[in-house]
Order: sequence, then structure tokens, then C-alpha cells
Amino acid sequence: MRRRRDWHNAGMPPERLPRVLSGAQPTADSYHLGNYFGAFRQWAALQDDFEAFYFIPDLHAITVEYDPVVLRERTYIAAAQMIAAGVDPARSALFVQSHVPEHTQLAWVLGGVTGFGEASRMTQFKDKSQKSGADSSSVGLFTYPILMAADILIYQADRVPVGEDQRQHVELTRNLAQRFNHRFGETFTVPEAHIVKATAKIYDLQDPTAKMSGSAATHAGVVDLTDTRNQAMKKVRSAVTDSGAEVHFDPVVKPGISNLLSIYSALTDRTVESIEKEYEGLQYGHFKVALGDLVADFVGTFGDRTRELLDDRGELDRILADGAEKARAVASVTLELVYERSGFVRHV
Ligand code: TYM
Repeated sequence: MRRRRDWHNAGMPPERLPRVLSGAQPTADSYHLGNYFGAFRQWAALQDDFEAFYFIPDLHAITVEYDPVVLRERTYIAAAQMIAAGVDPARSALFVQSHVPEHTQLAWVLGGVTGFGEASRMTQFKDKSQKSGADSSSVGLFTYPILMAADILIYQADRVPVGEDQRQHVELTRNLAQRFNHRFGETFTVPEAHIVKATAKIYDLQDPTAKMSGSAATHAGVVDLTDTRNQAMKKVRSAVTDSGAEVHFDPVVKPGISNLLSIYSALTDRTVESIEKEYEGLQYGHFKVALGDLVADFVGTFGDRTRELLDDRGELDRILADGAEKARAVASVTLELVYERSGFVRHV
């Protein structure tokens, strides 16, 4: 057992470790480098000091058009990639959202304290529904953030490690928790988003003004964690860069090279300044070749590990069942309290 956080400064030891929770949708055949740096890396790091809950939001994935056979396969890939990214099933509860019915049960209750206008202001819904048109957007896509709030609140999570694009959803979650607590008495922990600024938004390599996204029309600028070494290297080498030739971090004037610098820095744990210095006087090309090799190595090793894990579905099933059991033990306690506070007659 690794040493847990030292509590003596805080006076009394808490009854439990603080909790961390996060999820990543299985809506593509693979997660990408943005998911890894924006979220998974933090997930792995936080396992030491927090009681950790990480999950695959398959219920969220059905809010857009999908194929059931593909979803099932993507759910396994998601689990394998989360483990390959460092989620340790021995230290974290790793589970599938639909295995824990308390998420949807709480979502219904939270729907009652969510304003229609408030839900309408969610920018991710606006973006996604604009893309597909109001008539083909589902009601599920609209209520999606309420389910996300339930995902977080059902575990009384203290921290939610996510990328920048999820900040507004965590803010909504905080508002719903506070509102419920105010109306019905202290029930929920009010969670905080955990967003690491340097990697909060990784951009598409072909369009450095758009975030790297699994749903991008072309994956030429998206480094998928299932890419081969060669594919990854080529994507980085052909990344769009800016006018000028200097390897210098300036997200406004040089969004392309700045994005690549962020990735370089995150992969090597070196500061952007030290990398700028190393490439002083050199062309973009040198820098992109070096970064291409680094990314290729990373993705290659990641892919090998993922394939190993996917080869043993029985083991993945066992890990997910164990995770769901740990999750339900916590979720059922919160739901009971919420139903009590809500004024429901409890069955005897
Ligand atoms: P999702 O599945 O879109 O993304 C998973 C995580 O990856 C982060 N991310 C990025 N970070 C940096 N740069 C990028 N280009 C990038 N793209 C994605 C996301 O911010 C996220 O942290 N609604 C969530 C899933 C979810 C969830 C939850 C998260 C459902 N319930 C409860 C936290 C807590 C989503 O769609 O993330």
C-alpha cells in the first residue's frame, strides 16, 4: 500500500480520503492524445491521495446516434485504454456507468432542481445540437449534463479531473449540489474541477484553433491512442505550423507551434522554456521530427499495452465487475440519503 496523504496538519483525521471521480465517453474507436493529457494523466496521478472512481459513460454515449455492436466494443477498448493510461484497478474503482443504476436514479431527482434555461445554456449542447440540427438532437443530449452531475454527486466527489471543455458542466454540478443542499438540507459534497492549465486543451494538429476531438471529420490532426507508431509520427510531422520559423510559445500568434510545444512539454515533463532554448535557431522541421519520434514512442507503447489487455476480455470483465461493486457500495448510500431528503416513503 502506498503512503496516503498525511493528515496531521488538518488536525482530526477525516473519516475517509477525499474522493476523485471522472469519466470519458466511449464515442470513438479510441481515445486521443487530448483525452490523455487533459484527463487520464491526472486520473492516474490522483489515485494516490484520493479514493478514486473512474468510469466509462456508456449511458452518455447513447445521446447521439450510435451502433450497439460498436458501442460494446468501444466500451472494452475504453476500459483497456484507461488501464493502459495508468488507472490501477487495485487502487481505483474502474467501472461502466450502466452497471451502477444509481447514476440514472439520481439524475431524475436532479432534473427536478435544474432550470430549463440553465440547461439550455450549456455550450456543449448548443455546439453539438447546432451541428446536427435541432430536430435530430435527442432529449438525452439536452439532459446529458444532469446525468453528468449525478455521476459526480452520487460519489460525493471532491475533485473532478477534466479538460477545459468540461468546466461548465462541473460548474452546473456545483450549482445543483448547492441548490439541493439549500432546499433539502446538507446532502452533497460540492465538487471542484481539477483542470491542469498547460494541457487543459490540446488542439487539432491540422486546425490548431479547434480542440482535438474524437468526433472530428478527419483524424489527420487527431493522434489516436491506437495509431501505429508510423501513423502518429506522420501526423506530427505534417502538423500545420504558423508563419515564421522560430520555435516559440505564443498561443495567439503561433497556435500551431504552441500546441506542439505543449505536447512536447507534457510528454517529456520539461518546461516550454527549456524546449524553446534547445531549438533556438533551428527550423520547425527539426522540432517536428523530434516530437514525431516522441509521440510515436508513446503511442506505440500505449497501443501494445492496450492490445495485451484487450486479449483477455474475461479479466476486463472481472475488473469492471469489481469496480461496479465498489462503486455501488458508495452510490447506494448517497441515493438512500437523497430519497430520504426528497420525502419519498422508503419501502420497508
Ligand atoms: P469526453 O469523453 O469528451 O472527454 C474525456 C476527457 O478528456 C478531456 N478532453 C480533452 N482535454 C484536453 N484537450 C482536448 N482536446 C480534450 N478533449 C477531451 C475532457 O475534458 C474530459 O475530461 N462529459 C464528459 C464525460 C463525463 C464525465 C462525467 C466527466 C460523463 N460524466 C463525470 C467527468 C465527470 C465528456 O464528454 O468527456
